[in-house]
Amino acid sequence: MLDRDLIDQEFPFLKDVVFLNAALVVIPPLSVQRAYFGFTQEYIANFAEGVIARGWEIVAEARREVAALIGAAPTEIGFVKNTSEGVGILANGFPFSPGDNAVVIDQEHPANLFAWINLQTKGVELRVVPSRDGRVLEEDILARVDDRTRVVAVSAVQFTTGTRVGFSRLGPACQGRGILLAVDGIQAIGRLALDVKKLAIGYLSCGGNKGLLATTGAGFVFCDEAWVRKIVPPFACYQSVRSYVKPPALTSDFSKVDWQDDSRRFEAGNLNYAGIAAIGAGAKLLNRLGIEAIQRHILEMEDLLIEGIRALPLDFRSPLQREFRSGILCVYYPPELENRVQDVLRQHRIYATFRGGYIRLCINFYNTREQIQRTVEAFREIAALVASARKRRS
Ligand SMILES: Cc1ncc(COP(=O)(O)O)c(C=O)c1O
Repeated sequence: MLDRDLIDQEFPFLKDVVFLNAALVVIPPLSVQRAYFGFTQEYIANFAEGVIARGWEIVAEARREVAALIGAAPTEIGFVKNTSEGVGILANGFPFSPGDNAVVIDQEHPANLFAWINLQTKGVELRVVPSRDGRVLEEDILARVDDRTRVVAVSAVQFTTGTRVGFSRLGPACQGRGILLAVDGIQAIGRLALDVKKLAIGYLSCGGNKGLLATTGAGFVFCDEAWVRKIVPPFACYQSVRSYVKPPALTSDFSKVDWQDDSRRFEAGNLNYAGIAAIGAGAKLLNRLGIEAIQRHILEMEDLLIEGIRALPLDFRSPLQREFRSGILCVYYPPELENRVQDVLRQHRIYATFRGGYIRLCINFYNTREQIQRTVEAFREIAALVASARKRRS
């Protein structure tokens, strides 16, 4: 069971609002806001005394919370700017040889695509798995894998349909063949239970500005300890190496870089301490609520929403079979009715993403049964608008 009192305390500003837009942007709870703003306020009040040491304490705490959220060890977590940067570090740091291949899906978000496309300039073949009516099947991915496949790069939840990708077969199959399963986790982490060890995910990248409840400009990567020494980041810096010593010496060895042998090797320079404080607070709240309970609630609310909208003459863009569902539901509307459809949602104080022909509704743990009913009511009005437009046309 979710702790409703805790959720109400954390999101007082959502009382009269149905926020279904977490697939686009975060709505940070109060504890995250305090952590984010508090970092700067605290160090200004202290005239910056100890600010860097405090920053690294915050990083250590966030590492523990994020690790607990995904079933990893804290040493397997490194902090980066966003999903794209985490993906780029892997694509550029992985020891590919010409003739190797990487496998992606045709629906991928650009954050998990261009770094792989760019690898073709280094002689790495790119294999693109076609989705089927929005569904991404594990067997289709595995059918494209061969002896030269080194990485399978896939989003846990696809951003244009909300399709969840299964890893229960894919992860172990990749692991068994020495292939790195690399996941873009941003549409899943914080909303769905994703245990990286159980699913044999080798690498995961996730920005902080969606399910993690934090902010833009701060995200994390997970790299399994079995893989981390094989990935050489494109930049070396004082946190990413072991050979850094305190000034004035800087290093005891000018002949080579002695990389950290855990995910700190992916971190460079002073980090976004305020952003990472926000991630730490967001992950802490998610851990308190329990990711299994969060996922259960989201999927239950999605059942209700599907049931309500299914009764209407509207079409879903998302696959509705349970195994592909993520709590993100996309529903078509005629693009020429966009303004009027937007008006309906605005009147009901419902926030969702409009994507020129479909609405993306992203359910989260703070959404209640009453809010889902209100959303179904709004869709009843949208269906009436669509029906009368069709009638006029015919
Ligand atoms: C699947 C997916 N990956 C990545 C991103 C964002 O990437 P980044 O964190 O680099 O901005 C989004 C959405 O913004 C997304 O939906």
